[in-house]
Parts: sequence; structure tokens; C-alpha cells
Amino acid sequence: MNTLKVALLGAGNVGSEVARILLEDSEVLASRAGSHLELIGIAVRDTESKRAEHIGHELLTTDAEALVDQADIVIELIGGIEPAGSLVARALRRGSVVVTGNKALLAERGAELFQLARDNGGHLGFEAAVAGAIPILRPINESLSGDRITKVMGIVNGTTNFILDAMDTTGADFGDVLKQAQDLGYAEADPTADIEGYDAAAKAAILAMLSFHADFRIGDVFREGITSITAEDVDAAKDAGFVIKLLAIAERLDNGVAMRVHPTLIPREHPLGAVHGAFNAVFVEADNAGELMFYGQGAGGRPTASAVMGDLVSAVRRLTRGIGAAKDADAAVEVNQSNIKA
Ligand code: HSE
Repeated sequence: MNTLKVALLGAGNVGSEVARILLEDSEVLASRAGSHLELIGIAVRDTESKRAEHIGHELLTTDAEALVDQADIVIELIGGIEPAGSLVARALRRGSVVVTGNKALLAERGAELFQLARDNGGHLGFEAAVAGAIPILRPINESLSGDRITKVMGIVNGTTNFILDAMDTTGADFGDVLKQAQDLGYAEADPTADIEGYDAAAKAAILAMLSFHADFRIGDVFREGITSITAEDVDAAKDAGFVIKLLAIAERLDNGVAMRVHPTLIPREHPLGAVHGAFNAVFVEADNAGELMFYGQGAGGRPTASAVMGDLVSAVRRLTRGIGAAKDADAAVEVNQSNIKA
């Protein structure tokens, strides 16, 4: 069995779980993927940081570019646009397999990166970018590729769902439950992305890109966060039989696609009303499939690492079988502006 070199960029909540799985489950992964996966290094900002300590110093490096240049597979879990974008582009130009959970990057430069993967025979896996452990992007991109999706709607941010759910069940104030969400590791380093709806808007753009085959960006999404929701609002909604949820919605209209993220009143008996804690749920409507619902853990290190590992194993399987990683999954992400009239 051959060995493929894996570089991990980032050792945060998700990155450290990915490192653990790569090291602890190496035999199972090799048997599933058909190749040994050797973790050759982990790029971090500071090799002395507390966060990096538990992983093992011998794997840590601050030279991400050198690490990328030695690897067959690059797992990017740094987040943000830069330096993540340059490193992903560098790996794709080398024809490497790249797996990322970086919604901000995809919602800004997705079309360009998919093209780079296609042009250089590489592969870009990104299931972890939307809704954590829930398989949602591949079902949209592959299973439903023979159908016509009309609407995607869901709770795609675990932190805000945790906050709104805790406000609903305990009557607590926004500020108190935000702190709890951060302590549990759901919120991003800067919670603004979660509570102001940027994280959900990036995910809405990615869902729309795959569902409606056009180059949508985060800036195309109407966005309103949850910072103005008070304990009184939550109470009033409850009295009227509703629960407040932050929804991301992308739908096909006669003259284009509408994308929006905002707090929404949901009837308490609606399935989305029963999504608690940091869980996510996504509804998909398609002409022939009808209504589908995907539900599961949408945030947190282990659930998101599960999605990363799924992308990794499936890309390596294709490589190992000699199919050519870029030829199937990426080809379905044919970003074509002419499909959509704005
Ligand atoms: N902060 C994000 C969330 C992590 O709460 O959903 C997963 O994207």
C-alpha cells in the first residue's frame, strides 16, 4: 500500500481533532482510503502555544508554505481569507488534494479555487464548511445533481442556535449565554461572525452556489444577526406559540436567486422549532425529490472533524483508484453565471 503525505494547517478546535483522528485511527483510515495517510506536519502560528502543546511538538511548524510544498494532501483549518487563501491556492496549483472547512474563503473565492482545482488536476473538498458533521454539500452537489433545487433553508450556525435556544428555555439574557457558547467552543475566535450572521451568510452563499450553479458571494446575501434579540422578544414569541431561529435561506425566484439570513419566527411545532443546542438542520426542496431534511451537530471540533475526514478518505479513494480526484466531485461545481439571471 502506498503512503500519501498529509499537511495540516491549523490546530484549533477542529484541527486538533483531525490530528488526533489521523494519528489514532491510522489503520482504519488506510483500509478505507486504500493508502496510508502520514501526517507530516501541522502549521501553527506559534509552536509554543498552549493549544498546540497536546499535539506533540515534533509535528509543529510555523513554515506553512514549506509544509504545503512537501504534501500530497493539505487540510486547511486556519479559517479566514488570508493566509488560508494563498496556501489553498498554492496547494491546488501543485495538483494536491485540499480539504477545507473554511466557509469565509469559499464564500469569497470559491469559484476561483474550484477552477484552480480543475485546471491543475487537484481536488477541493469542503463538506466541513457548512453545518459541521451533517452531510449536506455532497448530497446537493452529487445526489441531487439530476434534479432542480428550488429552495434551501435552515439553521446553519450552531452558536446562534445554542444562544437562542438557551434564551428560549431559561429566559436568560443574550450576553450570558454568549459566554457559555464561547466556553463550549462553538463560537468562532471572534463571535461577531456568528452573532452578526456573517458565518451563516457565508454558508448561505456556499449552499446557493452548489444549489443554483452560480458564483454567489457572501456580499450577495442579505444579513441580519441576533444581537438585538432580547429576553423580552423571546418571551413574546413564546407566548404567541413561536420560537425565534436564525435562518439562512436561498431560493430560486422567477428572475434570479434570493439569499438572506435573519432571525425568523418559527411555529413551535415546526421541525426547525425542535432544533436545540448547537444542532443544525437544513431543508432542501427539489422539483423531483420533494422535501428533504438534514439534521445533526453543526459545530464543535469532533463533528466538524468527521466531515473533514470524510472528504479526505473519499478524495484519497479516488486517487488510489486512479480516477483522478478533480474529475468527479469538482466537475459538478460548474460555476456558471449564465445559469442565473440576477
Ligand atoms: N461557529 C460556527 C457555528 C462553527 O457556530 O456554527 C461551525 O461553522
